[in-house]
Amino acid sequence: MNPLRQQVMETTAHINPRLNSAVDIGFLTGTGLSQTLSSLKVIWEIDYADLPNFPRTTVESHRGKLVYGSLSGKSILVFQGRFHLYEGYTPRQVTFPIRLMQELKIKTLILNNAAGGINLNFSAGEVMLIRDHINLTGHNPLVGAEEPAWGIRFPDMTRVYDKGLGTLALKAAADNDIILREGLYAGLLGPSLETPAETRFLKAIGGDAVGFSTIMEAIAGVQAGMKILGLSLITNINNPDAPEETTLEAVVETAQNAAEKMNRLLCDVISLI
Ligand code: HPA
Repeated sequence: MNPLRQQVMETTAHINPRLNSAVDIGFLTGTGLSQTLSSLKVIWEIDYADLPNFPRTTVESHRGKLVYGSLSGKSILVFQGRFHLYEGYTPRQVTFPIRLMQELKIKTLILNNAAGGINLNFSAGEVMLIRDHINLTGHNPLVGAEEPAWGIRFPDMTRVYDKGLGTLALKAAADNDIILREGLYAGLLGPSLETPAETRFLKAIGGDAVGFSTIMEAIAGVQAGMKILGLSLITNINNPDAPEETTLEAVVETAQNAAEKMNRLLCDVISLI
């Protein structure tokens, strides 16, 4: 067993006795979005710092807390705060929460993030259903010594984001009068934001939104055989012909302002799962 799996197993052993039943859904939240499941009936919560072997979040806008609760009769583990490559974490550290969910036998994974809009039909504050992604980070969480217990060496990536969950998200959006865009998420390493030339490039290769997260977790989730729903909160629009400055503060503010909408959407999706 590789040492990382040994660590994940130790963390799993810490959590397992605290669960009442099998967990139906794992949810990993993005920048400014840690409050998106505010209707969750919380059973307990633990700071990441109190979980053995768990990496620590270094970004202030990420809370770093694991919350166990229930919603619409489903039991859910919410990972409030993720790890980013740009913080200096390795791809395997970034995907530690996914491996933990895998050891806990979680089969449905929800990922959300804050992202820049490249598609000029989008507006800041809208939500995009991730249909596919392009990994431009130069990293991959499956690199390195093989861990057969975590899945096959060359997992197929023709359908990373589950079609059925996407359909449920569109239905939940329609039922709640929420505009739900659909598109392709381009994942970069960051943390510097895009130049106008880079934005033009991302548009040319089909990108609709850009961000610095989600892809490592989605790849590990596919290898783990999870059904994945990915939602991007578009916090700013990147128009290469009329570039405007983007700041973390503005991104976090837009994400927090739209958190209630993301919350309604996700609660409804979860009731439909
Ligand atoms: N680029 C990359 N990541 C982001 C952006 C952006 O413009 N906005 C929010 N996250």
